[in-house]
Amino acid sequence: MKACRIIVAMPKGGSGKTATAVALAWGFERRGRRVLLVDLDPQGNATCALGASQEGGYGTLELLLRPERPFTPRPITGGLHVVPASSWRAGADLEVQAANQVTGPVAVREALARVEGAYDYVICDCAPSLGPVTYNALAAGPVLVPVEMTRLAVSVVPELDRVLATIRRGVAPKAGVLGYLPIRHVEHQEESRDALRSLAALEGHRVLKTRVPAATAIARSLAEGISLFSPRYRRSRGPTAYLAVVDEVAQLLEDRHE
Ligand SMILES: Nc1ncnc2c1ncn2[C@@H]1O[C@H](COP(=O)(O)OP(=O)(O)O)[C@@H](O)[C@H]1O
Ligand SMILES: [Mg+2]
Repeated sequence: MKACRIIVAMPKGGSGKTATAVALAWGFERRGRRVLLVDLDPQGNATCALGASQEGGYGTLELLLRPERPFTPRPITGGLHVVPASSWRAGADLEVQAANQVTGPVAVREALARVEGAYDYVICDCAPSLGPVTYNALAAGPVLVPVEMTRLAVSVVPELDRVLATIRRGVAPKAGVLGYLPIRHVEHQEESRDALRSLAALEGHRVLKTRVPAATAIARSLAEGISLFSPRYRRSRGPTAYLAVVDEVAQLLEDRHE
């Protein structure tokens, strides 16, 4: 069985990619699904947020570039595993780029195809750049794009669209966006409302119905390495919003397969 893939990407830093990838991972696990999170950002924020170590051992470098090494993700719980971010000191970007010249940007796609059999969902957290590894990830599955509700963040969206259009003309004709997820939405703020309107007005953009509010529990959960759905954050609006995102994303993925 193939897993459902979710590539969480947005070239702008601080847009809520890691918060979203990690919340989806905990959320699907809470829904009883088997989840693999692949941390494709060498900074390793998602790895850290799941309480896994980046030092030594099997990481994304091995997953992408050393297929002969046995696949050994770190178990976080019975249902949630992570491939920790390797630090990119060994020049993984350059190696991936060199491989791409022979094969096209398929390193992430092929790596996931090799290992995803044991999972229902595979979630990739991308770096805030459009470097070779992110480019490969965009060709590997449907992209969920967290967009902070500011004019600046919305203005970056067409850049990502252009890259996806290039990928569609090449190795992945089906590459594309699953949906845009409004992040730090503040209903009573004019900038938030403006940003949401501009995002919805961009041609061919599916904006998720759920809007993720600004909520300190979301930042605390990442920093404390504890699931957003733990009872300690029950008073926050963050977990409720992200559980709605989990269900909306599951539905969008199901619709794609029909
Ligand atoms: N909805 C939110 N409410 C409050 N803080 C958030 C929210 N989403 C993300 N954060 C915080 O904002 C910062 C950037 O988010 P992060 O997910 O790391 O962005 P990215 O991965 O896109 O660079 C982090 O400190 C994170 O904890
Ligand atoms: Mg991040």
